[in-house]
Amino acid sequence: MKLRTFSGMRPTGKLHLGHMAGALSNWIKLQEDPGYDCFYGIVDWHAMMSDYANSSVIKGNCREVLLDWLAVGLDPEKSTIFVQSHVPEHAELSLALGMVTPLGWLQRNPTYKEQILNIQNKDLSTFGFLGYPVLMAADILLYRSSVVPVGEDQSAHLEITREIARRFNNFYGEVFPEPDILLTPTPKVPGTDGRKMSKSYGNSINIADTEKEMWNKLRTMMTDPARERKTDPGDPDKCPVWDIHKVFNHDEDEKADLASGCRTGSIGCVQCKKALKEHVVSMMSPIWERRAYYESRQETLDDILWNGADKARVVARETMDAVLEGIGF
Ligand code: ADP
Ligand code: NA
Repeated sequence: MKLRTFSGMRPTGKLHLGHMAGALSNWIKLQEDPGYDCFYGIVDWHAMMSDYANSSVIKGNCREVLLDWLAVGLDPEKSTIFVQSHVPEHAELSLALGMVTPLGWLQRNPTYKEQILNIQNKDLSTFGFLGYPVLMAADILLYRSSVVPVGEDQSAHLEITREIARRFNNFYGEVFPEPDILLTPTPKVPGTDGRKMSKSYGNSINIADTEKEMWNKLRTMMTDPARERKTDPGDPDKCPVWDIHKVFNHDEDEKADLASGCRTGSIGCVQCKKALKEHVVSMMSPIWERRAYYESRQETLDDILWNGADKARVVARETMDAVLEGIGF
């Protein structure tokens, strides 16, 4: 028996190298692993939750996410790839789970408390936003997933999913497996300013960036601030360019040369950035090619999503039938 697994991403714009190295590389490993049956959803209802006043961009963003996913190697022949709202059972199960979810679990959710305090430019005081973990539980439980690959940042949400599954099963019989957390190693990919790469910091290198756009971002990056002239000795440990080398440059000999050249002042920052660029370009070239291939094939993209939704709905309906029967409807 294959283990089912669900993962999703919100369609909030183009994805960046942090998404690629931090999450999608793990998704691809599971896709290639014959022990796993993977469901990957572009979760548009979740995007609407925090952005309901700006919902007209969500559909276009779904297309961008799909292009990025296909570009990095998610494969509709191997994984079930779909848009959440195309499978109405997500909403139906969310309603059912909401009936048994105590408000306190949602109010105590650390992510909720943190975002309510810190996010100023959006209205988060909605029923939908408080209920984010309920919809997320529905996404996962709809496929009766037994494992969910998550980074550390999502483990509190997954804990709520487990609690909701347990509570539902207590009332209505063993409908859901309690999904195990598969904590996946996620290198924290730094952005061009040294902080975690994130769209909201404006420090990201996108999967869809051209070579020129990417080089412009690398070229203008700050380096060790103590290094004013090229011949000044520098400290790689104080340099955000070096932090990106550590994630994407796997040529250990070259890295040793660059680090010692920086410390002695014999290798300048531009040379070091050019070396990084070469590694990023060779990693991204096949990805850019695949993205361009799909970009001009809208019908293929539509087919992928409708076929994915058809496949997902077969499983989703089975689960909903068990849910409704358990409840007694
Ligand atoms: P959302 O806002 O849709 O919840 P994020 O944009 O925060 O999603 O990212 C989705 C996932 O991508 C995260 O859970 C994390 O695993 C991964 N991710 C995002 N940015 C980075 C980064 N800079 N480094 C490593 N992983 C990242
Ligand atoms: Na697989």
